[in-house]
Amino acid sequence: MKRLVKVLLQNPGAASLALFARELLANPRAMGAACPSMPALASCMASRVPLNREGLIVELGGGTGAVTAALLRHGVPPWKLVVVERSPTLACHLHQRFPHVRIVQGDAAHLAQLLDHDRGRGIGSIVSSLPLRSLQPAMTRAISHQFEILLEPGGLLVQFTYDLRGARHRLLPRFRRLSSKIVWSNLPPARVEVFERE
Ligand SMILES: C[S@@+](CC[C@H](N)C(=O)[O-])C[C@H]1O[C@@H](n2cnc3c(N)ncnc32)[C@H](O)[C@@H]1O
Repeated sequence: MKRLVKVLLQNPGAASLALFARELLANPRAMGAACPSMPALASCMASRVPLNREGLIVELGGGTGAVTAALLRHGVPPWKLVVVERSPTLACHLHQRFPHVRIVQGDAAHLAQLLDHDRGRGIGSIVSSLPLRSLQPAMTRAISHQFEILLEPGGLLVQFTYDLRGARHRLLPRFRRLSSKIVWSNLPPARVEVFERE
């Protein structure tokens, strides 16, 4: 593990790919993508996050950090950002890559519990790369329930999907879709959707 982290620090691009591939082989359903999001997709996700809102910005499924890096580039202050990642290996990688960001290793299905420490700060936006379509339906329901209880009315959820038909709203009954955009330059193309808690 230590050797792997050392390689990652020396060559983040190639090593991130290798790490992602290893996790994909170990847990394809939870990874839900063949490779990390490309810069255009990560930037599109980040650009949907308003910077002038109160509350935390919670990123779910940090992976190797493509979206985390884009959020920081977009101007999200590190102290406002919390990244949740289920895989211990990827969470460790995120710690190394973003030492000033709070990284929480755990399952987004228990998000309220994981964020207990931050109770009272409120959540302004959730930015999710979770593969809601490929996870077990019970898991997807549990995660969607967490979105409902943690976001106040008006709170934003930014989610991407490789399902270009954009059928996500069926998974999120208490959210209304504000915008939807396909990032064609990502491989494969992906749809970025913004939902508002009703
Ligand atoms: C499609 S990858 C996205 C990674 C990265 N954000 C990107 O865009 O390249 C999905 C990530 O979600 C994580 N993940 C899957 N299920 C999860 C869960 N229940 N809780 C937290 N993270 C989860 C996976 O380990 C993986 O890192």
